[in-house]
Amino acid sequence: MKAAYIKETGGPEKIIIGELPDPSPVTDEVLVRVEAASVNPIDTYVRSGMVPAELPMPFVVGSDFAGTVEAVGEGVTRFQPGDRVWGANQGGHGRQGTFSELACVSEEWLHSVPVGVKEEDAAAMALVGITAHIGVVLRAKVQEGETVLVNGGSGGVGSMVVQMAKAMGARVIATAGSDGRVVKAKAFGADEGINYKTLDVGKQVLELSPNGVDVLWETRRETDLDWAIGLLANRGRMVVMAGRDARPMLPVGPFYVKDCALHGFAMFNYSANEQRQCGGDINRWLTEGKLKANIDRVLPLDEAAEAHHLQEENTIHLAGTLAGKIVLKPNGL
Ligand SMILES: NC(=O)c1ccc[n+]([C@@H]2O[C@H](COP(=O)([O-])OP(=O)(O)OC[C@H]3O[C@@H](n4cnc5c(N)ncnc54)[C@H](OP(=O)(O)O)[C@@H]3O)[C@@H](O)[C@H]2O)c1
Repeated sequence: MKAAYIKETGGPEKIIIGELPDPSPVTDEVLVRVEAASVNPIDTYVRSGMVPAELPMPFVVGSDFAGTVEAVGEGVTRFQPGDRVWGANQGGHGRQGTFSELACVSEEWLHSVPVGVKEEDAAAMALVGITAHIGVVLRAKVQEGETVLVNGGSGGVGSMVVQMAKAMGARVIATAGSDGRVVKAKAFGADEGINYKTLDVGKQVLELSPNGVDVLWETRRETDLDWAIGLLANRGRMVVMAGRDARPMLPVGPFYVKDCALHGFAMFNYSANEQRQCGGDINRWLTEGKLKANIDRVLPLDEAAEAHHLQEENTIHLAGTLAGKIVLKPNGL
């Protein structure tokens, strides 16, 4: 099979496009023909070695995918050849990735692609969708009528948070880095949008929600907890999920007197059972038209290294040249 893989960690130039032996499914595994795979920041951290991971070499990069089942191992019960599936948990924990024509995936990590949903869209929503679901539903427990601030509402995770908070019945305020991206966040359902480059976000938020917000979702790798807790309402919850090296100071005084809570999590820590709950809601919202993919561009597999470079330039170096997911098509555009 054709694959994008590395033999050692390093920069995007370490990605090789070449042939690897076709994988074959054992016991609980499903062999998937990968129609679409999307790029996540974590893929670049794993590839570079910034996040130490157990990597079988040669290691196929990529976490997300959607495609069609080609064959199943003898213990597989939920899927059969021809089924369309998506998943988000490859490319780490000793598992091979998804930037390849074929991938073997344990069935516990698979979700069905609903009828009418394209593989490109399912792959683009996989990891970011599960991440947003964990934070919005399982951790912050967003309630109908609450106000949610999404700091970075037009990006991969942020655009999912905006849509899921709306699906839960919340009022959503989203920030974005240009007027065009503010429009985009509103198109995903945000009730209010703030350009964080031209406006004072804190001032704007308190004008829109004078008692503060019930939930503040931070997508930045470096946050300012003094600023954020100042924007929380009584019993407000903040979600942090980025920036492994970040060490912001927690202003304990204003935090505890308002009964606030801080939720941090990494989606890869959530079990297959927990993630199937996320996948179930995601599929339901997709079917109901409440969730849409946020795709910036679709590229052939041959451009995997360029895709990693572009993702890195934006997530780490804040280039502002990407607004949404990069989707790769291993089996042709
Ligand atoms: N914990 C987990 O399980 C988990 C899962 C997925 C991702 N992550 C992490 O979450 C982060 C976001 O991932 P992603 O896939 O959504 O990346 P992304 O698509 O690159 O989005 C980054 C977002 O950050 C926003 N942003 C940048 N500077 C900002 C600022 N000063 N103020 C407000 N917003 C700002 C961007 O807004 P503009 O584009 O409008 O400028 C964009 O919406 C990454 O660090 C990733 O590693 C963690």
